[in-house]
Amino acid sequence: MLAAYARAINPDNPLDGLAVGELDPPQTPDDWATVEVRASSLNHHDLWSLRGVGLGADQLPMILGCDAAGVADDGTEVVVYPVIGDPGTGDETVDPKRTLLSEKWPGTFAERVRAPRRSLVPKPGELSFAEAACLPTAWLTAYRMLRTRGRLPDDGAVLVQGAGGGVATAAVAIGRALGARVYATSRDPAKRDRIATLGATALEPGARLPERVDVVIETVGAATFEHSLKCAKPGGRIVVSGATAGHLATVDLRRVYFLQLEIVGSTMGTRDELAELLAFCVAKDLRPLVDSTFAFAEARAAFERLESGEVFGKLVLDHTR
Ligand SMILES: NC(=O)c1ccc[n+]([C@@H]2O[C@H](COP(=O)([O-])OP(=O)(O)OC[C@H]3O[C@@H](n4cnc5c(N)ncnc54)[C@H](OP(=O)(O)O)[C@@H]3O)[C@@H](O)[C@H]2O)c1
Repeated sequence: MLAAYARAINPDNPLDGLAVGELDPPQTPDDWATVEVRASSLNHHDLWSLRGVGLGADQLPMILGCDAAGVADDGTEVVVYPVIGDPGTGDETVDPKRTLLSEKWPGTFAERVRAPRRSLVPKPGELSFAEAACLPTAWLTAYRMLRTRGRLPDDGAVLVQGAGGGVATAAVAIGRALGARVYATSRDPAKRDRIATLGATALEPGARLPERVDVVIETVGAATFEHSLKCAKPGGRIVVSGATAGHLATVDLRRVYFLQLEIVGSTMGTRDELAELLAFCVAKDLRPLVDSTFAFAEARAAFERLESGEVFGKLVLDHTR
């Protein structure tokens, strides 16, 4: 079947290891369900994989992609929940053995993807396949960061760092839909203009905010972390799910204890949170921001755009053309 996969690891030039072509479907457990993929979307995770973060040379070739929406083997329209973990504790994201599709088991950038049947979440008819395919990773991560881990209060305030990214645009849109005052930084003036149209107050990185916030959404890391600490109000939370620009940040511990700040890690979300997010998008008439859509066979061009850092919102692959 046609697939976009990692055929080699290259930490410096990740796209050198990307192949888009025919690949025999890899082995998966017999009792898993098969989904004909109609749309998928890219995440920074796919670039990390090609760089060898979380993916070893002994696992190649590995089909990339965490996100997909499609039609299951029983004819239902579904969104694929990408965390493969034990939900025994009620939260598969804290299973130490959890993996994401494309880490241990083949990912979603293929004609078909296989996943445990409980990972298939019904797709609401109100959402297109392309819209639904944007939600399982970036949007789910942002949703959990704001609601579960950030405990965003009603009438709260949020700062989103690096506002052009997939998680960040999701956090801005979800934050606004939750009624929060949203501040967002971006290095790029054009992205700041676009983020303002979503109802956020757009600022340059490091700018002083008109108020301190309840929750800071951090996916940038070292480049913005000091600013994040300064912008949180006493008792506020800096919720971290990524470190695109460096994972070794400087933390002024005096600020942490004196202001009783919480630095909170967050990863993906549970299957139930994904179902909640789908319902939330329908109820609030909220749709993911799509930067651009590529035919599946043009997946390499989508990866080039992701790597360029020019992206505003999600990159979608249309598997029907
Ligand atoms: N833990 C999880 O479950 C989870 C889930 C999803 C993503 N993540 C992680 O979260 C991060 C973001 O993912 P994504 O898919 O949203 O990535 P993305 O779409 O590629 O966005 C990255 C954003 O980071 C900002 N940025 C990059 N370098 C920067 C720098 N030097 N200084 C300031 N800002 C910088 C950019 O914002 P501006 O251009 O607007 O400044 C860019 O838009 C990644 O590291 C990813 O691995 C983690």
